[in-house]
Amino acid sequence: MRFAGFTVFVTGGAGFIGSAVIRHLLRDTGARVVNIDKLTYAANLASLPGAAANPNYAFEHQCICEPEALRKLFEKYQPDAVMNLAAESHVDRSIDGPAEFIKTNIVGTFNLLQEALRHWRSLTRERRAQFRFLHISTDEVFGSLGEEGLFTEQTAYAPNSPYSASKASSDHLVRAWRETYELPTIVTNCSNNYGPYHFPEKLIPHMIIRGLAGESLPVYGDGQNIRDWLFVEDHARALTLVLERGVVGETYNVGGRNQRTNLHVVQSICDLLDEIAPGQESSRRRLISFVTDRPGHDRRYAIDASKIERELDWQAEENFETGLAKTVRWYCDNRHWWQAILHRGYQKTRIGTG
Ligand code: NAD
Ligand code: DAU
Repeated sequence: MRFAGFTVFVTGGAGFIGSAVIRHLLRDTGARVVNIDKLTYAANLASLPGAAANPNYAFEHQCICEPEALRKLFEKYQPDAVMNLAAESHVDRSIDGPAEFIKTNIVGTFNLLQEALRHWRSLTRERRAQFRFLHISTDEVFGSLGEEGLFTEQTAYAPNSPYSASKASSDHLVRAWRETYELPTIVTNCSNNYGPYHFPEKLIPHMIIRGLAGESLPVYGDGQNIRDWLFVEDHARALTLVLERGVVGETYNVGGRNQRTNLHVVQSICDLLDEIAPGQESSRRRLISFVTDRPGHDRRYAIDASKIERELDWQAEENFETGLAKTVRWYCDNRHWWQAILHRGYQKTRIGTG
């Protein structure tokens, strides 16, 4: 069985993508998973149903900005791999409060690299050869595309938001730890994920839960900004393939070849809600309102995923239409999951206007 006898640290495993990775590892592989998470506002252990009872799962409530505590975890569990997904991830929040992004995304990654290096150096030759540090990053490090072209692994970095600048910094640290200290690192840069268990501040779940409540649907600017959508479970499979077969020192772009304008995304959500959860007197498209643009709003992202498709034989299984229908249905069928977030105080209000 894949990863049998392997211990994998997943940082940020209570978040959106980290929880999808853990669900996949526990369901489809023999890996022993240690979820290291600070449990910020974005975390939700309810995104890991059944995990706590699984003998292959352990949870450590831990911030990656605390090196001594991280060191103890490396000593305790002796991991074979680290998948680093712990991060502050929301662009609008980074506009209002960049400090946490600098701390977790840059300093936290630095701490993890240092402690992983110390651990790696203590391993036998055979285990050192197997060890991997997989850093999960974003296509936002490449900046904004014009009308034409795709981000490749060779595209120069040009981050535009405090969030993407912090992620770019962390990617550079990971590269440096490989070049300087020979830590076996790999970086992935992926496009916008969507799917079940997505915190409702992000475009797709935000529009679904506001649409269900008959509230206005705020589209930034002219709605013509383009994102390239990747179903989160396709991403989780891609990450485990990279961990298993990716080449040390390489970077891999991951994307679903699903470029859509934001307006198209929101209109599609309205149409799906009208079909799955009827009850409004007319189409929810009437709820769409155009609001002040996000400062520094990148116009277009689009990933060329041919390297991971060709070299690791990965393919996205969902296209945007099938993935979005599954997602809207999931939010309609799992209201308790996101209503608990509202009860805890999440306000659904606009932030990040600078
Ligand atoms: P998320 O915000 O849903 O989850 C982040 C998780 O990290 C949370 O569980 C949080 O508690 C944890 N965390 C935050 N600070 C921490 C700290 N200091 N120590 C330990 N844990 C901490 O994020 P996500 O959408 O799942 O993103 C995961 C990773 O993927 C991030 O690195 C993000 O930059 C990257 N990424 C996300 C997307 C996307 O569309 N969501 C796309 C590209 C890349
Ligand atoms: O590209 C990968 C990135 O995708 C990840 O690195 C980030 O962690 C992730 O949050 C996401 O960033 P975006 O800024 O693209 O995602 P967000 O969901 O915040 O916004 C998607 C698009 O929708 C963006 O163009 C802004 C717009 N938007 C967003 C919200 C929340 C709206 O028009 N209205 C909204 O209410």
